Amino acid sequence: MAIDSTQTVRDIVQQNPAAVPVFEALGIDYCCGGGKSLEDACMKGNIEVDKVLSDLADALVARPAPDEAQWMTSSLGDLSDHIVKQHHGYARRELPRLAALSEKVFLKHGKQHPELGEIRELVNAIASEMSTHMLKEEQILFPRLKTIEEAANSGTTPMPAFFGSLINPIRHMMADHDDTGELLRSIRSLSSGYQPPASACMSYQALYHGLGDLEHDLHQHIHLENNILFPRALEFERAH
Ligand SMILES: [Fe+2]
Ligand SMILES: [Fe+2]
Repeated sequence: MAIDSTQTVRDIVQQNPAAVPVFEALGIDYCCGGGKSLEDACMKGNIEVDKVLSDLADALVARPAPDEAQWMTSSLGDLSDHIVKQHHGYARRELPRLAALSEKVFLKHGKQHPELGEIRELVNAIASEMSTHMLKEEQILFPRLKTIEEAANSGTTPMPAFFGSLINPIRHMMADHDDTGELLRSIRSLSSGYQPPASACMSYQALYHGLGDLEHDLHQHIHLENNILFPRALEFERAH
């Protein structure tokens, strides 16, 4: 189906997962900023709408969409387990490594490239935010999703949660996601889109490469939560 620029970025990605790499390449925020229309997202990023539409058309022909459809119908428990295993696992492995690497590169090249000091601070801020955020999901929100799902399957009513409706922790998680999205945008801008200077040593290059991968994984991670898991969980709560 052809994409038009009045659709929201979120709808485009939900219906066409192959659009993700196009948005990544152009720096269009499809996870936290997914509620904007494509037109508005392009205006915000100063990107030509026609260029995006043509890149999207190419991507959708060249690359069949990966099977994200399974997460639209899987159990909420399976989707949250996937997020924890795949994306929380990645963040826990990568963030300490990137924090140490950004420290090392800053100490070596910070004089000539003072932005490395800010990048180091931003990586530490993401690491600290994410570690509490993931615990809140793993210890409070995701177990609750399993509880309500199991209760519905066994025809029982679950004990009420201390936080009331799911909308409360979900709003909180989405606000955290917005904060992480802002930090990522700052890193992208300070690193000129993860382009190291021509003279950069291997560690400098590895840092920028790793930061680009981190952005990609966090975008996927937040997309699965904001655009698939959370709306499905709220719908499930309404229906049961
Ligand atoms: Fe998460
Ligand atoms: Fe999250």
